[in-house]
Amino acid sequence: MKVLFAVSECVPFIKSGGLADVAGSLPKELKKQGTDVRVILPKYGTIPDVFKDAMIKKIEFTVKVGWREQYCAIEEFEYKGITFNFIDNEYYFKREKLYGYFDDGERFAFFNRAVLESLNFLDYYPDIIHCHDWHTGMIPFLLKVQYQWKAGYEFIKTVFTIHNLQFQGIFPKDAIHDLFSLDFEHFREDQLKFYDCINFMKGAIVAADKITTVSPTYRDEILTDYYGEKLHGLLQKRSRDLEGILNGIDDEVYHPEKDTIILQPFNSSDILHKKANKMFLQKLFGLPVLRNTPLVVMVTRVTKQKGMDLVKRVFHDMMEADVQFILLGTGDSEFEDFFRGMEAAYSHKCKAYIGFNEDIAHKIYAGADLFLMPSKFEPCGLGQLIAMKYGAIPLVRETGGLNDTVQSYNEITGEGNGFSFKNFNAHDMLFTYRRALSFYKDSKAWAELVKSAMDMDYSWAQSAFKYNHLYANVISRSESHVF
Ligand code: GLC
Repeated sequence: MKVLFAVSECVPFIKSGGLADVAGSLPKELKKQGTDVRVILPKYGTIPDVFKDAMIKKIEFTVKVGWREQYCAIEEFEYKGITFNFIDNEYYFKREKLYGYFDDGERFAFFNRAVLESLNFLDYYPDIIHCHDWHTGMIPFLLKVQYQWKAGYEFIKTVFTIHNLQFQGIFPKDAIHDLFSLDFEHFREDQLKFYDCINFMKGAIVAADKITTVSPTYRDEILTDYYGEKLHGLLQKRSRDLEGILNGIDDEVYHPEKDTIILQPFNSSDILHKKANKMFLQKLFGLPVLRNTPLVVMVTRVTKQKGMDLVKRVFHDMMEADVQFILLGTGDSEFEDFFRGMEAAYSHKCKAYIGFNEDIAHKIYAGADLFLMPSKFEPCGLGQLIAMKYGAIPLVRETGGLNDTVQSYNEITGEGNGFSFKNFNAHDMLFTYRRALSFYKDSKAWAELVKSAMDMDYSWAQSAFKYNHLYANVISRSESHVF
């Protein structure tokens, strides 16, 4: 079974969020289970030189983006047993950021077209193209309406994974012709039309043979008005082909026993060493070194999605307790500024690192007691999984993947691996925070919690198994999905 992953970012080459972690780790596990996976992504200028220097140019051709005729090269690099193909066009991708340009529609229209065209030039035809998020959303659509009858393309099926329904790739309607050379007949409610624009993600939801999202709860949530981002009607129509498969985490990267970035490796039966990591972290951030003061952390994008409104609303109440707090992340300036202010106001107990740093993130996970993640919505969430693996107890809102992975502590039965609350309400969060801190004082109960969190299995094996099953199912269908 040959599967081509088309994706806009991938660890270790380039990352802006959790999508890159998934693209960098799921293929390895699929391959272990016997699937022949290849990954294709843009060759961004900001990919580190060590990788760029090792790439080999395979082929050059031109790609039509509407009336434009653009240069395109496919470069190749083998990494940990996986073949990666990079689509090179400096005009589109040699820029400082990955996204956020006036011509993102054109950039990713080029990428989508280049992926499809490259198959012809490389003479490589996968059974399935597995596309991820809006940046690759037009691939399933174009395949169906412009390629399906061409030699080599007839049998290719598509799977589309929604990592975040909030970002859909919405562009002015003339893109239909200007970027894709499609007739305006496709500007229809049941195809690309989204109000007065076109929508890349909608194209994928309409055309893909199967759609997945990254947790079972989020799968159900996006069928509702509240979480559906105005696509819930269409998703309901396609609900028979919509599945939720939980993400895993890469245990070569996140492994408290083998992690060389942290001060002291540890495991669930020897959590004393976790204390050493905690004290090291306190020193690193210039906090008083206090063994028994609960250390609450957040490693996150500081945006509304991640529940920052709630944290901001009750932060002073949170600081009343005998705690220490560390935040690592970037995002909306409103929240970045807020945390800078809080660091000044509570300098002896609150620290904010506005930026991202993988090394420091590991050290924070290893040293933390409580990991706060009160998301408004969370397709899967990787932070809580990493936190649990490193014995930092998650405190989450019961939504999406958080709901599927964190089980709230029950002091009667002793079951649970974290704390959770249901309503998106700052005082519900505060109540749960106080509840968690009250158990921190009971060192036996806390040690049990840490052990059950650390002993959870969030490796990719089970998820990869489910994807393989889904691929096999898609391939075995004689007809591809028609719309
Ligand atoms: C997005 C989602 C996050 C998910 C990640 C990987 O970043 O917001 O919840 O874990 O994609 O699928």
